[in-house]
Amino acid sequence: MSALPKAHEDSSVFSAHLRGGIPLFGRDADTALEVVMDRLRAGRRPERNLATFLTTSIEPEAQRLYRTYLNHNLVDREQYPEIDAMLGECVRMIGALWHVDGHRAVGSATTGSSESALLAGAALLRSWEERTGGELSRPNLVMGAGAHACWRKFCRHWGVEARTAPATGDGPALDTASVAQLCDERTIGVVTILGSTLDGRYEPVEDIAEELDRLEQRSGIDVPVHVDAAAGGFIAPFLDPELRWDFRVPRVVSINASGHKSGMVPPGLGWLLWRDRSRRHPGLGIRINYLGGDDAHYELTFSRSAAPVVLQYYNFVRFGFAGFHAVHARCRALARKLATRLRETGRLRVLGDGSELPVVVVTAHDGLELRDLAKHLAERGWSVPVYTLPPQLDDVEVMRVVVRNDLTAAAVDDFATAVEEFLRNDI
Ligand SMILES: Cc1ncc(COP(=O)(O)O)c(C=O)c1O
Repeated sequence: MSALPKAHEDSSVFSAHLRGGIPLFGRDADTALEVVMDRLRAGRRPERNLATFLTTSIEPEAQRLYRTYLNHNLVDREQYPEIDAMLGECVRMIGALWHVDGHRAVGSATTGSSESALLAGAALLRSWEERTGGELSRPNLVMGAGAHACWRKFCRHWGVEARTAPATGDGPALDTASVAQLCDERTIGVVTILGSTLDGRYEPVEDIAEELDRLEQRSGIDVPVHVDAAAGGFIAPFLDPELRWDFRVPRVVSINASGHKSGMVPPGLGWLLWRDRSRRHPGLGIRINYLGGDDAHYELTFSRSAAPVVLQYYNFVRFGFAGFHAVHARCRALARKLATRLRETGRLRVLGDGSELPVVVVTAHDGLELRDLAKHLAERGWSVPVYTLPPQLDDVEVMRVVVRNDLTAAAVDDFATAVEEFLRNDI
């Protein structure tokens, strides 16, 4: 394109391209677009990626909004007060979905549930330090064997013992008996999962909280509960309204969910809500005034696009409660149908049948190799992960299908037919 600036003609900086740096000269935008697209063309189509929980389809109106707000920095609250107000409105709406008492919920928009987990863990740790007057060392966090890796990240980086309950014959879910055994005066909190990444099942949040009530009566040890509702936080309120897993349970102090999963926003958005201001430990807030305002920031990251938050608000306006209900009910019905069909092959045992998260998890009955089946499906364009369950169940290999809103009944049928085809030939 343009010539090299004279002063730099001999500069060694500009020979970087010879050593694998950026190209010496650019190209016009159309050519550059083609070069990049060409490199990516061979990749899988996101709609056929059945491994991911994340949103893979965005309707044109939402894409337009996304493009418009992509260049707005979420952290510039003073400059974009209307976006900041929208974020606050999202927190209020999510708080209402999770039955917060009145308008007392406070919360943060994060980059995803992983950042939410790190922040929630930090709040539990600071509160425990304050409760125990700094007299105890070696804090621990109690969780089930199926807890997501983000909780191990929190424990490792914040110097907290990850006290993990063993998996049982029923699966990786945290059970009440383990909770009672594992908690002590050094426990900063218990993490329960509403919708396991591994088998799509809900942990019994209310039973776990009641067990902790009994522990407190017996021993005086008061352990708060955080609910990791990364995938279930935008499903249970619509499909399981009677299930008490949220702020209706007094011991639940904070909840996270991924806006970019069942909140139907493209990648880059998580939510973390605390029951009230007192549970968001003030020590987490960092005062920043060089952006113009002078208020505390409670996120772990700083600059990022405001577009995902705008899209979360758009989804609430666009779908409403009834629309979210319809979308997730359809996914659950499709997942259950798929689970039935896979069970009927006689070669697959269903561990997660889609009746909680719309996720189907199967293991093989006889000599069937799930990895060969996954390879066969990949040849037909479907991505499905095969993995082992956590220790104690790590001899069990499973395959998982996440049914998202852009998966049609015809696509599910196509997928199931591909499985059946493989099984017919694998005798
Ligand atoms: C239960 C659970 N917690 C946390 C996470 C991390 O979420 P994110 O990808 O939004 O960081 C996941 C991701 O699948 C999850 O399933």
